[in-house]
Amino acid sequence: MKFFIDTANIDEIREAHSWGILSGVTTNPSLVAKETIPFHDRLREITELVSDSVSAEVIALDAEGMIEEGRELAKIAPNITVKVPMTPEGLKAVAVFAKEGIKTNVTLIFSANQALMAARAGASYVSPFLGRLDDIGQDGLELIETIADIFAIHGIETEIIAASIRHPQHITASALKGAHIATTPFKVLEQLFKHPLTDKGIEGFLADWEKRKAK
Ligand code: E4P
Repeated sequence: MKFFIDTANIDEIREAHSWGILSGVTTNPSLVAKETIPFHDRLREITELVSDSVSAEVIALDAEGMIEEGRELAKIAPNITVKVPMTPEGLKAVAVFAKEGIKTNVTLIFSANQALMAARAGASYVSPFLGRLDDIGQDGLELIETIADIFAIHGIETEIIAASIRHPQHITASALKGAHIATTPFKVLEQLFKHPLTDKGIEGFLADWEKRKAK
């Protein structure tokens, strides 16, 4: 499973990129709204830093508007992936983008049937939202597993992005359930480093080193 970061904040992207783990970036209108720089300028900065997929979401709700916005976004850099909501209009746009060779990420996936339809429309990625399903008492991880099984049975190449990740356990479980990618907030990526035995081990090694120097 690959790591994407779920943010539009360039400092967070730069830091995670420096760890050598980052394969891509996802943004959404709520994340972009937290930033002051114009959207396209920020996308340009991100695509210069991260060479793999950078998802940029359309705002229009009709297919025509999505297609127009998506084509503009795709002009920013070859690694832009146009993020489209899971609606009939969204899938119309995905089908057009697929013919034009523009990569797409169908977002707001909450059922296996939605994922299957998005894949058949030509989506490059589908994004099931784990955390938001957990919030309403449904099992987000079970959804990842079901989508992964269906895609494997039918030889579907659309990649599954585990989205709406809330904690480190979501990452391990998504990898086990067959997600190709987890798009993760910076805070959760930082948490992945942490283990008390790692910290204790470093302290112990340094203390022993200091003792040796004193000899
Ligand atoms: C995915 O691409 C979305 O940007 C994101 O994961 C949504 O997560 P949230 O439920 O924390 O807003």
